[in-house]
Amino acid sequence: MVMGSHQDPGVLAEGVARFVPPGVDPSTLPRSFALTEPMPARGPVPEDWATVPQFRRSSEHFVANVSIEADTSLYGTGEVAGPLLRNGFVTEVWAKQPFRIEDDGTVTPHYDERSKSLYQAHPWVFAVRRDGTAFGVLADTTYRLGIDLREGIRLSCSEPFPVIVIEGASPAELIQRLAVLTGRIELPPHWSLGYHQCRFSYHPDARVRELAREFRKRAIPCDAIWIDIHYMDEYKVFTFDPERFPDPTGTNDYLHELGFKSVWILDPAVKAEAGYRVYDEGVSEGHFLRDAEGYEHHESTWPGEAAFPDYTRPETRAWWMRLTREFLERGMDGVWVDLNEPSPILPLGAELPGDLAHRGGDEMTPGSHAQYHNVYGFLMAKATDDAMRASRPERRPFVLSRSSYIGGQRHAATWTGDNVSSWKHLHWSVPMVLNLGLSGQPFSGPDIGGFARTPSSELFARWIGLGAFLPFCRTHNSLEGDQEPWSFGAATEKVSRVALERRYRLLPYLYTVFHEAATTGLPVARPLFFADPADLSLRDEGHAFLLGGDVLVQPRLLKEERDNLPMPAGNWRPFALAGEDPASEIDHPILRLREGAIIPLGHGGQTTRDAFEGPLTLLVSLDALGRASGDLYEDAGEGFGYRDGDYLLTTYQAVLSGGRVEVSVAREEGDRPRSVRELHVQLLTSTAVLRASGIDGESLLVQF
Ligand code: NOJ
Repeated sequence: MVMGSHQDPGVLAEGVARFVPPGVDPSTLPRSFALTEPMPARGPVPEDWATVPQFRRSSEHFVANVSIEADTSLYGTGEVAGPLLRNGFVTEVWAKQPFRIEDDGTVTPHYDERSKSLYQAHPWVFAVRRDGTAFGVLADTTYRLGIDLREGIRLSCSEPFPVIVIEGASPAELIQRLAVLTGRIELPPHWSLGYHQCRFSYHPDARVRELAREFRKRAIPCDAIWIDIHYMDEYKVFTFDPERFPDPTGTNDYLHELGFKSVWILDPAVKAEAGYRVYDEGVSEGHFLRDAEGYEHHESTWPGEAAFPDYTRPETRAWWMRLTREFLERGMDGVWVDLNEPSPILPLGAELPGDLAHRGGDEMTPGSHAQYHNVYGFLMAKATDDAMRASRPERRPFVLSRSSYIGGQRHAATWTGDNVSSWKHLHWSVPMVLNLGLSGQPFSGPDIGGFARTPSSELFARWIGLGAFLPFCRTHNSLEGDQEPWSFGAATEKVSRVALERRYRLLPYLYTVFHEAATTGLPVARPLFFADPADLSLRDEGHAFLLGGDVLVQPRLLKEERDNLPMPAGNWRPFALAGEDPASEIDHPILRLREGAIIPLGHGGQTTRDAFEGPLTLLVSLDALGRASGDLYEDAGEGFGYRDGDYLLTTYQAVLSGGRVEVSVAREEGDRPRSVRELHVQLLTSTAVLRASGIDGESLLVQF
């Protein structure tokens, strides 16, 4: 064994150890892609290390087995459809556009619970033991990996791979330790936490403008309008259709005037057509993937025969950055990178051959597509993110990427791909977002209403009611029927408006939770067992979830309301946000506040710009001792001034004593001046405490 190699076994950090299969020289293993920085071993793994993988080798596979104690619950494995709890499932880490053969024989690009792999590749299992302690298993390879959770954890791969085991005293500690290794999200701009409206595709330009006006006319909160592939000239990336979008700068200016941001899509495939500048440059500068004989490889995609950039090359990433920077000069606010598993379009399910040659460079060694397939989307997202940062250093980047690898949260948010307008897919929205969060990606959400097919008004209403409380909140649909909040009649329009008003009122809290995710790696949406890891009854709850540490969201996703929704111990008091009556309106999840918590609420608005200004309400739920506390994180919502102290992190506290509740600032951090604004305090109390406190109004104005 060569000592000092980047993949040596041993302890890497507190609670983190790397194991290497016996007989494998660590210096021959590829450099880790999952870790943000190489982590040398600090010393040998102690004898009493709790979870040790057992390596085996068959004629075809390298296998690592991790046995689990009874009542250990397994999660993670990245993007998976189906229930939250993953015990018993077999998945594959292989970025893939899934497809299904429908009953009538047609092939559709959708997934279900039998899909072994989806767009994101996360070689990671998150485990919670019976006693609530946790451990995670990271297979540190980019090659195709099998994850079999039928009996313990069995990982298998055609290539040898190291296994990193992370211990955590709790699920929260485990996910934070994973984030130390694989990174955290960049603090997102305020606008990206608003509502997004998307369609495949809004075109031409006049339709986009009309859509924007309609949102404002109907007073439905919305921050961003998305432009899908029909803006391109014959689907050629980095071009604009001269008739549909003759003046993209003008389109963006118009959206900006009405208070919207715009996000435009980019696909990796470049039409192989001589005379098309992007292709010509790619050929002459050698940016495209080649086969083993050195011929440029083509696949059938939206624009027809196309070549694929080799993002492992630093020169190719620099080229992509240059093209993206030119593209952004037209005023796009965000970029959506799609089909980057990478996925050819025809035939459905086609993949790039494993023996294509990636040439690498810098820290990436040359390697086959079989080695780099799973990080193709990650590298495309990284190049796009780098372009956004370089072209406007004063603004925060926003990239949404369909595919990525573990650690991809550093460069892009994601969504759960081409779901279907069905009740089953509505249900999966929650466990999919939760498992992505347990795999290090806190910023995700489903296509609200479903991408394929058209939802009934009932389904759309239920979906937007729920989607309003998921981290990324975007309606998107394909070529079929309309899917705007007003497309399903007046009643559903009202539900949509109320749902989004609820989100916009909650934004000061939601942004505080995103700040926590960006600084600690804790998910934005968390499984209920985070509140009580040893309570086994919470382990498979995939309907209700926690938003941050203090808010419990109880959607009623079944057609009939379900009684006795499980809840962590303690008094979780219900609260209303925007005049809704959650008890009678099944579309709006019930929201509950943890006892002992204080959360900040805004007054809502049509855009996030309004929502973060104006009166603030502190919603207080006293615990049995009459105390509560909670944080509010504030900054400019854009730019990086917060890194130089332009932020304010306030911890409020409330104490009941002598029949009065006193609310005060317990702690503050940051140099940003406190804005002068109306501050309301709303107490959520049980009747007993109310009487003791002598407060009979629901809301009172407190001057500090
Ligand atoms: C596939 C994506 O998943 C979908 O969201 C998008 O609308 C289409 N590609 C067209 O760009």
